[in-house]
Amino acid sequence: MSTEVRKPIISGNWKMNHNHFEAIQSIQKLAYLLTKDDFAAVDVTIHPPFTDLRSAQTLIDADELRFILGAQHCHESDSGAFTGEVSAQFLSKLNVNYVIVGHSERRQIFGETDEVVTAKIVAVQKHGMTPILCVGETLADREAGRTHEKVLGQVRAALTKRSVEQVRAMVIAYEPIWAIGTGKTATAQDAQLVISSIREEVAKVSSPLAATAVRLQYGGSVKASNIAEIMSQPDIDGVLVGGASLDSAEFARICQYRLRKD
Ligand code: 13P
Repeated sequence: MSTEVRKPIISGNWKMNHNHFEAIQSIQKLAYLLTKDDFAAVDVTIHPPFTDLRSAQTLIDADELRFILGAQHCHESDSGAFTGEVSAQFLSKLNVNYVIVGHSERRQIFGETDEVVTAKIVAVQKHGMTPILCVGETLADREAGRTHEKVLGQVRAALTKRSVEQVRAMVIAYEPIWAIGTGKTATAQDAQLVISSIREEVAKVSSPLAATAVRLQYGGSVKASNIAEIMSQPDIDGVLVGGASLDSAEFARICQYRLRKD
C-alpha cells in the first residue's frame, strides 16, 4: 500500500516561539540555506504563531520563497463571538495553506475533543487549505498496550463525513505524546508500525485510494541526526518538527536529510 509516490513533507511547528521579528530572521536564514533542489524534493511548511503570519506571508511573497505557510490552530466558525480566536477563513486570506489540527497540546491543555477536531478539519478544507491532523497516545496508553486503539480511534473520528478526495488531500501526523519535547523518539520501526496501521485504517474508513495518497508524518523529538532513519521507513512521508525547527541551521539539515550520509 506504500507504492504511490508521495512528495515528502517537512513541517516546522514553532509553537509559541519567535516573535515576528525573529520569524523574519529565521525564514530569511532558512531561505539562504535551502536550494531550489531542496524545494523540488520536499514540501517545507512553516507554522509560526498567529502574530507572525502577516510578516511571514509578506516576506514569502516579496522574495518569491518556496516555503509553504502554515498555521498551528484555528477556530471552526467563520466569525462570531469567540474572543481571542482566529478563523480558518482569516487564515486563508493570508495565503496560509496548511493548518495543524488537534495537536496534542491543544487536546490536552485546551481540551479539544475529537468532535471539535473534526469540525476544524471541515472548516480548514472548506476554505481550501490542508489540515495536518495530529494523533498520538500518552505514555499511560502506550504502557497499557492501547497505542493502536487510541491512535486509530482519533483517526476514525476525524475522517467521518470526509469524502475520498478530502481524505486523500489531508496530512496525518503521528505524534506519540511521550516523545514530544522529551528527547525520546519512537524508534523508526515503531513509528513505521503505527503509521502503517494508520494507513490501513484510512483504507478501511475511507478507501484504498485515499490510503495510498494521504501523506503521513512522524513527530516527536525529530532532529538532523535521526531524520534519515525515520524517512527511510516505507509509510513515513514526512515529519512534524517542534524544538529543532526553531534553529534554522538544524531545520535546514533536517530538510536536506536526503543529501547527508551521517
Ligand atoms: P518536538 O519536535 O519538540 O518534540 O515537538 C514535536 C511536536 O509537537 C511538533 O508538532
